[in-house]
Amino acid sequence: MKKFVVGKLVDEENICNLSKERDAILRNINNGNNVVIYGPRNYGKTSLVKNVIMKQFSQTHKQAFIFFVDLFNVTDNESLTLRLKAALEHAMAEIPLKKWTNEIKKFVSHMRPEVSFDPVTGAASLSLKSIDIRNSQSMDDLFRVLKNISQKKDLLMVFDEFQDIVKLKSEQGIIRSFLQDIDSPVIVMGSKSHLLSEIFLKPREPFYQWGTPVSFSPIDYEIYHTYINERLAAKGIRLGFEVSKTLQDNMHRVPESINLVCAEIMENYENVEIEQEMVNHTITRIIETRQTQYEELLGYHSLKEQIIMASIAKRGQLRQFNSVEYLAELKMNNKTVATTFKILIDAGHIEKYNKVYRINDPLLETYLRLYR
Ligand SMILES: Nc1ncnc2c1ncn2[C@@H]1O[C@H](COP(=O)(O)OP(=O)(O)O)[C@@H](O)[C@H]1O
Ligand SMILES: [Mg+2]
Repeated sequence: MKKFVVGKLVDEENICNLSKERDAILRNINNGNNVVIYGPRNYGKTSLVKNVIMKQFSQTHKQAFIFFVDLFNVTDNESLTLRLKAALEHAMAEIPLKKWTNEIKKFVSHMRPEVSFDPVTGAASLSLKSIDIRNSQSMDDLFRVLKNISQKKDLLMVFDEFQDIVKLKSEQGIIRSFLQDIDSPVIVMGSKSHLLSEIFLKPREPFYQWGTPVSFSPIDYEIYHTYINERLAAKGIRLGFEVSKTLQDNMHRVPESINLVCAEIMENYENVEIEQEMVNHTITRIIETRQTQYEELLGYHSLKEQIIMASIAKRGQLRQFNSVEYLAELKMNNKTVATTFKILIDAGHIEKYNKVYRINDPLLETYLRLYR
């Protein structure tokens, strides 16, 4: 069904556009190339890979084995090993039950696999009992299993939010040499462009110039405009192009934020042509219902950090943070501002996009503009 999906992966029917990206990724993995997907948060990377690419890969490869691991917020060897272990267990549990005995035994018998069934759903899950995540050797063990699998099956590996291991230098080295040693295609994706560049663009780093880049950029205004109206039509709502373009710009052209506003419009109006003022009203209402949430989020940041976020939100964008005029406005010195920017960029609240800094989340930006 056509709808505005928010806050979860988008199913294939509701993914707007992204066909160029899909074709580029499929072409590369089918040629055995590795792919690095660049794109800001909430641009549909995970949805496209999980709901389109991985699905296609299993349909076109009878012996498909897909290993998907999310490295979001991984901080050390232990948490990385835990994610890899869980991802392997999950991938194995996807193999139809009747094939388990032969295959799983062959690959992982030394890891003491144990199968259990969810009492409610009946879904099978598997646990590799002998893998101790505190042991730094465990990562090698897991990779050895994947290597064995790659020799018998059509393996596709996906590493999501890869930038989060930027600080784990020796682990990056281990992963890099494991991948080098394996013939199967690999997709690596991530959101924070400054961290991804540290991993892939620095000559001394293990992943320097690894893989073919595929980048996600904003969806064409006209295409998203059509997508919006196709969905609003179910309630007799129309949105003219100018209003739709402004809405897309105000939401920084981030699909998730655009969808959120459109879903709210759909909820509150019927058989009407939407005017700019109705969009503004809708955005204000969303922000008001999220006030506690935003205040809680801001509460995690120092006053200086909040002041800087608010200053960027009010300007919309900022070219340089060390101009005399800006420092004077903040009443802070260059060093403090530089450190604070780094904290906020690492936290994902500020992003440098097209050579300017701005608040990443357009709705948080609006909140800061109105309430700070
Ligand atoms: N191409 C798209 N079409 C429709 N909605 C999208 C699209 N891309 C992203 N979204 C929205 O973004 C949200 C997050 O999608 P996700 O695939 O997790 O993005 P990413 O992995 O890039 O952060 C979805 O819930 C949806 O609201
Ligand atoms: Mg994602």
